[in-house]
Amino acid sequence: MTISDDLEHIGAEAREALAAAADADAVDRLRHELLGRSGTLTALLRQLGTVPAGERPAIGQRANEVRRELESAIGDRLEELRRGDVERRLASEAIDMSAPGRPVQVGHLHPVQTLMRDLREILHAFGFEVFEGPEVETEEYNFELLNIPPDHPARDLVDTLYVAEPGSVEAGRPEPARDGTILRTHTSPVQVRAMQALEAPIRVLTPGRCFRYEAVDASHAFEFFQVEGLVIDRHTSLADLKGMLEEIARALYGRDVRTRFRPGYYPFTEPSVAFDIGCLVCGGVGCPACKRSGWMTILGAGMVHPTVLRDGGFDPAEFQGYAFGMGPDRMTMLRHGIGDIRLFFSADARFATQFAEGR
Ligand code: PHE
Repeated sequence: MTISDDLEHIGAEAREALAAAADADAVDRLRHELLGRSGTLTALLRQLGTVPAGERPAIGQRANEVRRELESAIGDRLEELRRGDVERRLASEAIDMSAPGRPVQVGHLHPVQTLMRDLREILHAFGFEVFEGPEVETEEYNFELLNIPPDHPARDLVDTLYVAEPGSVEAGRPEPARDGTILRTHTSPVQVRAMQALEAPIRVLTPGRCFRYEAVDASHAFEFFQVEGLVIDRHTSLADLKGMLEEIARALYGRDVRTRFRPGYYPFTEPSVAFDIGCLVCGGVGCPACKRSGWMTILGAGMVHPTVLRDGGFDPAEFQGYAFGMGPDRMTMLRHGIGDIRLFFSADARFATQFAEGR
């Protein structure tokens, strides 16, 4: 083989290898193998001295050509690879501006909170304002000032959660706090707090958490909500109360909802009523949800007892009022057909995310 055959052979092989080089490192390696100090083309150029003087200029010229060709082919291949990298990166980072947006996961209100907001809006329309009271109450406000004296049998109706006397738990004998601190069993104590704080006419609503020592089951929680309503004025009557409650029921459950009043008993209202709506599950014919009665009780209410008016600082000869206590947990169960109150406190996303309409 002549030097010039070798030259063409090296050139052809190098071009092939170059086309196959997968990345810039491979090209660099190839450049080193060809043109490095002990590269194949370098070695061949060194042998030019052994070529007869007559052929030397032609072969020398061809050798230089091949070297320049390879150098520029190396440069071209590097550029090609770089461009490929950029294109791949651009493709991988490309944003399709026409694609629809991905839905953003935002939180939403608990269904009981949604219902309480609805109640608040309905009552706002009738001129009621929110007036809140403490969850940790005194027996005085929770019972005594509501005409429930310590020996009154009505106290047995309520299983109260008592705050412990300081130190008694550590001493191994828990006893109720001597100052009568309890967790409120209803929102009614706020009736007295509102009367003491405000001038007539009063129209307030009190949404809030209540606590009772309950055996927890599908319809009883030891922690639940109430929304209390209170009106104090010079001329209010049971007729006003009935009209108001019917409006609330229609606003919440639709114009066609059926309602009824039954006599009830609460020590702090006289007369007292229970307010029922026609069962939303069976339409009134009777089903397990309404215990086959066709009706569901959603609140207790009545005219404020004269003793409670006096406790609140109002003269019963001059002022009357009415109060109602709604159970939003219960009302939410009716609204959505939820069969178990424990779901409300279950922190189960599969349950909670079904009520995304709450804002
Ligand atoms: N506080 C009563 C209860 O917890 C409800 C109620 C409120 C009744 C206001 C009459 C007036 O059951």
